[in-house]
This record gives sequence, C-alpha cells and structure tokens, in this order.
Amino acid sequence: RQTPVIAPSILSADFARLGEDTARVLAAGADWVHFDVMDNHYVPNLTMGPMFCEGLRKYGITAPIDVHLMVEPVDALAQGFAKAGATSITFHPDATRHVDRSLQAIRDAGCKAGLVFNPATPLDVLRYVMDKVDLVLLMSVNPGFGGQSFLPSALTKLREARALIDASGRDIRLEIDGGVKVDNIGEIAAAGADTFVAGSAIFNTPDYAATIAAMRQQIDA
Ligand code: DX5
Ligand code: ZN
Repeated sequence: RQTPVIAPSILSADFARLGEDTARVLAAGADWVHFDVMDNHYVPNLTMGPMFCEGLRKYGITAPIDVHLMVEPVDALAQGFAKAGATSITFHPDATRHVDRSLQAIRDAGCKAGLVFNPATPLDVLRYVMDKVDLVLLMSVNPGFGGQSFLPSALTKLREARALIDASGRDIRLEIDGGVKVDNIGEIAAAGADTFVAGSAIFNTPDYAATIAAMRQQIDA
C-alpha cells in the first residue's frame, strides 16, 4: 500500500489570496495541492484555468499540483495544464471521445495521468487502460461544488477499485474526492483509498495543521 497523501482542494481556499493560502496549507503538512477545474459545461460551475496553475508555480509553490479536470472536451486544457506546471492530470472518461489517447497525451506531456469516476459511473473502462493510468480518482459527491456530503456508495466502489488495482500489480494511486473529513477518513482509508482530497474540511477550520494531523491519525488508526 502506498504512503497516504493528503491533497487539500484549493477550491475552498481564499481565492483573493490563493498563493498565500496554498502556501499556508502546505506549510501545515499537506502533501499535494488538489486543483479543481470547472468549465460550466461538464459541471455547473466555473473555476480556474492554466494561468492560475502557472501563477502558483511562479509564486513559489513546488509541491505536486494534482489537476482535476471537470471539463469537456479534455485534451486542449490538459496540454495547457501540463505546460503550466501540473504534476498529475485527471479527467472524466465520459468527457472525452478517446480515453486511451487522452491518457497517452497527458503522459507524453510529462505528467501523471488519471481517470475520475462520478458516483454513478461504472469503472468498466479502467481495465482496458490500466497500463496508462497512474491514479484512479473516485468522486464521493457529484462534481461541481465543495462542501457536499460524502455518498456512502463510494465505500463499496473504493473496495472494487482497490481490488482491480491490487490485481493489476501496478503502482496506481486510489484517490477519493468529496465530503472527506476527520470523522469519515478512517473508514475511507479502510475501504482502500490512499490519496485523500479534502476542501471545506480543511479550509473551513482555523488551524489547518491540527486538522491535517487529525486526518493522518485517523488514517493510521
Ligand atoms: C468537487 C471537487 C472537489 C471538492 C471537494 O467537484 O472535485 O475537489 O472541492 O470539496 P469538499 O472536500 O468540500 O467536498
Ligand atoms: Zn476535485
């Protein structure tokens, strides 16, 4: 099993002070920055493009930036984010016509590639592209907004995804996104996740370090 990664979603950060708030959460012990890209087309909300990612790099953020694309189509923006300093780029397979090609293009651009599955989207496509995937991200809310409640059906799906990944013998991270907090992260880890996105549960607390430490404690328990 991989070392646990905590990836705060900066969707819940202070957008008027994005660099500062991102640096603060990393100094508080976060591992990655989770960067939510919404286009008001694939999801009913609008957030940040590649310039924001480049801006964070220029500001001095060196931690991995995990770009979660909730956009349709995928390929042009994925290339834009690769150039803007993204470390990993994940997209929803239902948002692109040629999943295998989109994954390959992300890797060719020097980034880790991953697929994201909505709560009711089956994992089927995964088995055909296992060799082109570095991350599998399961949504535990419907994408588009922070601050929603964790859907318990995601626990069953995490176990399924964990079994597929283990059977493949590959070095693939299993990431969970949506409604993750201190009081449910333990059971989420037990269901097989090793990479934990949390937005509101971290940014809506005054002491990021205490929240992240409490999360790690629950993961290890
Ligand atoms: C939702 C985003 C999530 C979201 C998580 O579409 O993909 O990353 O910001 O926020 P919380 O942790 O508040 O559910
Ligand atoms: Zn996300």
